[in-house]
Amino acid sequence: MHPLLVPFLLLPLLLPAHAGSIQQGNACNPLNTHLNPANKQLTGDCDSTAFCSSNTTGYDLPQGSAGVCRPKGCRRDEYPFGYDSSSYIPPRCGTGQFCPDEEDSCQPLLALGSPCQLNRDDECLPPASPLAEQLSSERNVDGAICLNFQCLWANVSLGQGCEVENTVYTGYYPGGGTFYDVVSRDNCATGGYCDGVQRVCMPTADVGGTCSADKECDSYNCLPTSLCGPPADSASTVPAYIWVALALGIFLCALLTTLGLYVVHRRQRARQQRQREEYWAEQDQYREVLARARGSLQPALTPTQGGLGGQGWGRYRDDPREGQESSEGSLVLALQAQGESRGSAESTPPGQRRRRSGL
Ligand SMILES: *[C@@H]1O[C@H](CO)[C@@H](O)[C@H](O)[C@H]1NC(C)=O
Ligand SMILES: *[C@@H]1O[C@H](CO)[C@@H](O)[C@H](O)[C@H]1NC(C)=O
Repeated sequence: MHPLLVPFLLLPLLLPAHAGSIQQGNACNPLNTHLNPANKQLTGDCDSTAFCSSNTTGYDLPQGSAGVCRPKGCRRDEYPFGYDSSSYIPPRCGTGQFCPDEEDSCQPLLALGSPCQLNRDDECLPPASPLAEQLSSERNVDGAICLNFQCLWANVSLGQGCEVENTVYTGYYPGGGTFYDVVSRDNCATGGYCDGVQRVCMPTADVGGTCSADKECDSYNCLPTSLCGPPADSASTVPAYIWVALALGIFLCALLTTLGLYVVHRRQRARQQRQREEYWAEQDQYREVLARARGSLQPALTPTQGGLGGQGWGRYRDDPREGQESSEGSLVLALQAQGESRGSAESTPPGQRRRRSGL
């Protein structure tokens, strides 16, 4: 895109509804067609799909109508504003033609010296092939430029007399304030700019050179420090140390995550191990208590069975160890009492204990 057109093209986006509202086929006044003073966009009575034509032939209009809103005959944008997806969209113009600001119809390119519209370098016929490549730059279209509403070529060499066109665009801050942007254009060949006072082509400065306006820089970017900066659309490069820091950051993050997970898992495993050990220690205790309780119970049955004879001993004496302990009646009773007191003290905790250990 032509960089000089950028402010011109962006402003209409901010104020798209400035076109008129009269629909196709209705009366309008061609004298109302003018450039918006703020953004230099062509505006008139008709809505964005029509232009105000002074040729009213074929339309039934009120007496004294100066013009009529006719549908546009060409478009400049790939996706023109104001059309819905189902409606007919006028064509774009082919090579050797241009679509004027009114967008009424495609027209052949204008010869050198012909009148052209503001900022419409593309309306002018460029020089023939080798010269066109030589003069072509981002500040013109194939070497042709529309300056002060006249088609010229940007072919003036350094030190020669040149022409300047200064255009003031008005911008609006979101808060409501306004600012002005002056765009200065000239017909100096590539590598030169037209000095506003002397009207002579001067060499443009490289990046880092002093400047007082964008046009004085090769890069067309004069920084607030009055030094030429890199082109405004150049890619910003990231210094190498940022990449190194980024890589280190990613590596450290991965490492810390891994370490963190390792520690968490180790703690978890250790806790589970402890709980298992406690559980099995508890089980062992129960077994012991049960065994002891069983050992004391068997002999306790003997007094009632004693009347049946000595066989009762043999029936319940599975464990030789228990049998030995309970060989005397007084000892049996003592053990029974001990077993009961222990049982009441140690046989209930299992559930409570487990809960306490966190299972
Ligand atoms: C006006 O428009 C009609 C139909 O579109 C056309 O035939 C005629 O030549 C036009 N007149 C002028 C003066 O352009
Ligand atoms: C330079 O351009 C002007 C129009 O801007 C033209 O009249 C003139 O012939 C051109 N000079 C050369 C040497 O091409």
